[in-house]
Amino acid sequence: MPKELDKRRLLSVETNDNGRLSSGSILNRSGVQERDSGRMPKSGRSYHVGRPNIGDRRRLMERINDILDRRWLTNNGPYVREFEERIAELVGVKHCVVVCNGTVGLEIAIRALGLEGEVILPAYTFVATAHALQWQQITPVFCDIDPETCTIDPHRVEELITPRTSGIMGVHLWGRPCAVEALSDIADRHGLRLLFDAAHAFGCSHNGQMVGGFGDAEVFSFHATKFVNAFEGGAIVTNSDELARKIRLMKNFGFVADDDVRHIGTNGKMAEISAAMGLTSLESMDHFMEINYRNYQMYGQELDGLPGIRLAAYDESERCNYQYIVIEVDEEVAGTSREELRGLLRANRVRARRYFYPGCHRMEPYKTLFPDAGTRLPYTEAAGDCVIVLPTGTAVDGDDIRMICGIIRDGLDDAAGNQKRRTRQSTRT
Ligand SMILES: Cc1ncc(COP(=O)(O)O)c(C=O)c1O
Repeated sequence: MPKELDKRRLLSVETNDNGRLSSGSILNRSGVQERDSGRMPKSGRSYHVGRPNIGDRRRLMERINDILDRRWLTNNGPYVREFEERIAELVGVKHCVVVCNGTVGLEIAIRALGLEGEVILPAYTFVATAHALQWQQITPVFCDIDPETCTIDPHRVEELITPRTSGIMGVHLWGRPCAVEALSDIADRHGLRLLFDAAHAFGCSHNGQMVGGFGDAEVFSFHATKFVNAFEGGAIVTNSDELARKIRLMKNFGFVADDDVRHIGTNGKMAEISAAMGLTSLESMDHFMEINYRNYQMYGQELDGLPGIRLAAYDESERCNYQYIVIEVDEEVAGTSREELRGLLRANRVRARRYFYPGCHRMEPYKTLFPDAGTRLPYTEAAGDCVIVLPTGTAVDGDDIRMICGIIRDGLDDAAGNQKRRTRQSTRT
């Protein structure tokens, strides 16, 4: 088919209730349907959730050259040790052990804490939280979330405790700390270990205390998509001397000295180049937080009053990294579904994400192991069905946010127009 003909056939222009041109559709080069709402970035650029913050490139290059000159590429090098010191200082904990990524950090922490049998955790999290347990033959017991905070609901935890339960793993979702005190109380009363997946919560505080010092240990992620990144990386932080000692052995094959292995271990070491990126990123951390906060406020203004759209709020009296812009779509009020809005955004090159859809319990192997888990997790299912995460970070500016929110507004306007048309038609018949 000649290209021009093909294009004309695919370009379908509709008018909405006001007679305004509402949208056109066209296939992009990969054959995915894009709807040119007139808001698509002229540059042809796409907008991604978690586009990395780079920080001071010159400083990073200096450090990389330094690593190459020194020929100390890994194995507890000077940048790794400096990164550990800076994190421990910032978070206010006795020990920080950096590792190659957050998932391995969770696995090592779980093992060092002696977790076994069953561990209670939310299903509304990135799948790595559950995998880190299952990987070590520990059964993840999924607990529902509090619908307000989207973090594990402590009121539901106690009923899931059995003689096989060895611990609780809370997740500070979106950087919003979970119910730390209530979970600590339950863990104390039942003699359970308490671990926090703090992958989202680096730089955040709870009741004025930095995340990192709660429970037996906490684990950060410095994956490239996190606001402070080490390309790939993670850190386990704890105030326990004994736990830190074990973790250090475990992340280095169990070596206590040359040729002397006293423990089963793995290779969880962070490379020097990652620590160099981590340190450089840390130096720009306040700047990244300011940008994220500016973006969060701007999203708040642009989305304010849109029917059925709720921007997940952060407690501004605490330190917060604002690295996730999370909106919840109430389909009944919005007149359109989360899927339709997300489709519209994606068609306009805004790669909005459905974090954390469909919930760990609906992914393998958990789906097969616990086929009816969804019936016990109504709030988890509801969150998974209504959330869209939007782009933020240093790659996004005010114009981008206005454009992204404009697409959402158009989607809602179109839905309202269609609804009116349907109502008129039904009254005529
Ligand atoms: C909640 C949560 N836990 C754990 C991880 C795993 O971290 P990493 O990617 O560093 O392995 C992530 C990753 O994004 C996460 O979002």
